[in-house]
Amino acid sequence: MRHLLGTKGLTRDEAILILDTAEEMAATQQREVRKLPTLRGKTVVNLFFEDSTRTRISFEAAAKRLSADVINFSAKGSSVSKGESLKDTAQTLQAIGADGVVIRHPASGAPERLATSGWIDAGVLNAGDGTHEHPTQALLDAFTMRRRLFGEASRGRDLDGVSVVIVGDIAHSRVARSNLWLLDTLGAKVSFVAPETLIPFGSRGWPVTIHHSLDEALRAERPDVVMMLRIQSERMHAAFFPNEREYARNWGLDDPRVAGLSDRAIIMHPGPMNRGLEISSGAADSPRSTVLEQVANGVSVRMAALYLLLSGERGVSE
Ligand code: CP
Repeated sequence: MRHLLGTKGLTRDEAILILDTAEEMAATQQREVRKLPTLRGKTVVNLFFEDSTRTRISFEAAAKRLSADVINFSAKGSSVSKGESLKDTAQTLQAIGADGVVIRHPASGAPERLATSGWIDAGVLNAGDGTHEHPTQALLDAFTMRRRLFGEASRGRDLDGVSVVIVGDIAHSRVARSNLWLLDTLGAKVSFVAPETLIPFGSRGWPVTIHHSLDEALRAERPDVVMMLRIQSERMHAAFFPNEREYARNWGLDDPRVAGLSDRAIIMHPGPMNRGLEISSGAADSPRSTVLEQVANGVSVRMAALYLLLSGERGVSE
């Protein structure tokens, strides 16, 4: 594996290799000395053209726990604000000697451009590009589902038969897309729930059932996993969004809806959350919620991805 650009091209075996490697990484994090020497002498650059808390910190922690040198680059305060292009920025990283580049960019396809342009030799990891993909988020979500639903029996297995309902601003969500491709590959049944205006154009033909009523979806799909998505106001045209009260009433995961879920169902959210809009505090903080586990698992999953891409010890294709 040279790059991790999306989940759409991952095979079942590749996905399970990453998830099982993440289990190995998680086990090392229980030890007194958590640092592994695996990437000693390698340099990982975090290249963030959009804001991030979880993904950036998690990649930084993951690279450091593998003993890599880490350079954090934020477009704000850099020469990008003076008009420097992605190509010139990339070539600067090449000159510094980056072995891995973790990139978040508002333009869909920017990580692929970086990986295929020939500007750099480094492995490229997509940390979220436009509305396209966020592969490590989907992998950490699948890792969390496996652990919560199957416990000790999760190693080596897929998510065959698991019912996952993804709710909210699907149209702008790279998390929803990466989850759909990965979950379908792993055998889960995926449903999207959103008002008509927040379902992506072109989603006909995707391996997903679409609902417009959350209550109907919860009754029909009997979900093992309810994944709530953030309303992305910064990408939203006002015409696409019902008012907040109407949205919370019809598509928010509130306490009565949580009470109606099956005993084994879990509640996920990639963060950051709009409490009181797409999710109530009762739901976000309930024992069913995996929100903080997702963050913790993200470090193990990103350690696995960096290890598989940069150590040269094992590999899966792109
Ligand atoms: N889930 C996620 O991508 O969060 P950040 O934007 O904080 O990285």
